[in-house]
Amino acid sequence: MPPIGLLAELSHRCPLRCPYCSNPTELVRRSDELSTEEWLRVLDEASALGVVQVHLSGGEPTVRADLQEIVRKCAALGLYSNLITSGIGLSQTALAALVDRGLDHVQLSFQGATPEIADPIAGMPGAFESKRALAQRVVEIGVPLTVNAVIHRANIGEVGALIGLAVTLGAKRVEIAHAQYHGWALSNRAALMPALSEVLAAIAEVERLREDLDGTIVIDSVLPDYYARYPKACMGGWGRRSLNVTPKGDVLPCHAAESIHGMAFWNVRDRPLAEIWSRSPAFAAFRGVEWMREPCRSCDRREIDWGGCRCQALALAGDATQADPACHKSPYHAQLETIAAREATATAPAYRYRGYAAS
Ligand code: SF4
Ligand code: FES
Repeated sequence: MPPIGLLAELSHRCPLRCPYCSNPTELVRRSDELSTEEWLRVLDEASALGVVQVHLSGGEPTVRADLQEIVRKCAALGLYSNLITSGIGLSQTALAALVDRGLDHVQLSFQGATPEIADPIAGMPGAFESKRALAQRVVEIGVPLTVNAVIHRANIGEVGALIGLAVTLGAKRVEIAHAQYHGWALSNRAALMPALSEVLAAIAEVERLREDLDGTIVIDSVLPDYYARYPKACMGGWGRRSLNVTPKGDVLPCHAAESIHGMAFWNVRDRPLAEIWSRSPAFAAFRGVEWMREPCRSCDRREIDWGGCRCQALALAGDATQADPACHKSPYHAQLETIAAREATATAPAYRYRGYAAS
C-alpha cells in the first residue's frame, strides 16, 4: 500500500523553544540539512510513490530560504501542501508569495490563549502577538487555517479559551492535542503532566463546545495516552500511511522513531524513496501484525490501533514490540497510571527548553 502523507521536516531550527517539542533532543544542524535540489527530488519521488499530502514542518519550516520553491514544486506535482508553522517571522509579503506559489493550508500553533500563559511556554516574549497577527493575515488572504494547541499542565485550564480564540481568529479547525511524550516532551514530562481531574474537565469542555459550535469550527481532540484505556493508531499504523523525512534526509516511519536504539534509517541521499518505503528494515520492523506479541497478537483491535505507539512502548516498557502501555491490556499500564498520578501531583520542575546542544 503506498503512503498518503509525507512529513517533510525541512529544518530543526526554530525561534521557539517549546518544552513539549517532539523533535529529538539531538537536533540536526543547519550544515547537515538537505539542499533545495535534494528536497525537490524527494517531492518528485514522493509524488511518484503515491503521496498526496505534504506537511511542511520542522522545527520552523519558514527558516528555509527555499520554502517558496518547495511549495511551488508541491503545487506543480498536485500535492496538497500544509505549512505547519510557529507563526514567527512569516511576513505578509512572504505569506503572499507562498500562497501565490500554491500553498493550500496553514496550521498554526498556539501555546496558550493569552500572552501571559503562552509566551513563557514558547520561551519567547511577544510570540503570542506574532501568531495572532499571522492568523489574521492567513484568514484575510483566504487560506484555510487550523489552530493547533498542545495541551499540558500549564494550559489545560485554557482549553475553552483556546477554542474560543480559534473561532475569533476565523480558523476552520482547532486541534486540542494533549502532549505526547516523545523527544523534548519526554524529558519534560514531570513538568507537563496534568492531573486526571483536569483532563476530565478539559474533555467535558471540548464535548460541550463541540455541540455549541457545530457548523462553526471543527474541533479535533483525543484522550491523552496516560489517561486512556486504548492506545491510538500511531501514524495510522507503522509504515502504512505516511513517512517522515528528517532535515538531514533520514526516512522515518514516525517522528520519534530515532528513539528506538539499534534501528537503522535509510537516507534519501543514498536511495530512492520508493525503495526505502518498500524495503528498508526500519519500515518493515513493525508493519502489519506479524511482529506482534500477546496481548496484541490475538486482540480484535490489532488492525484498528496496530498495537499503538512503538516509541511509547520502548520508552515505557523498554521494548518496542510490547503493546503500547496506554492500552489497559498491557502489563505496563498500571505503571503508566502511577507515573501520571505521581508527576501530576508533585511540584512541577522547571522546563528544560528545547535547543541545540553546545558543541
Ligand atoms: Fe491494541 Fe494491542 Fe491493546 Fe489490543 S492489546 S487494544 S491491539 S494495544
Ligand atoms: Fe513512533 Fe508512535 S511516535 S510509533
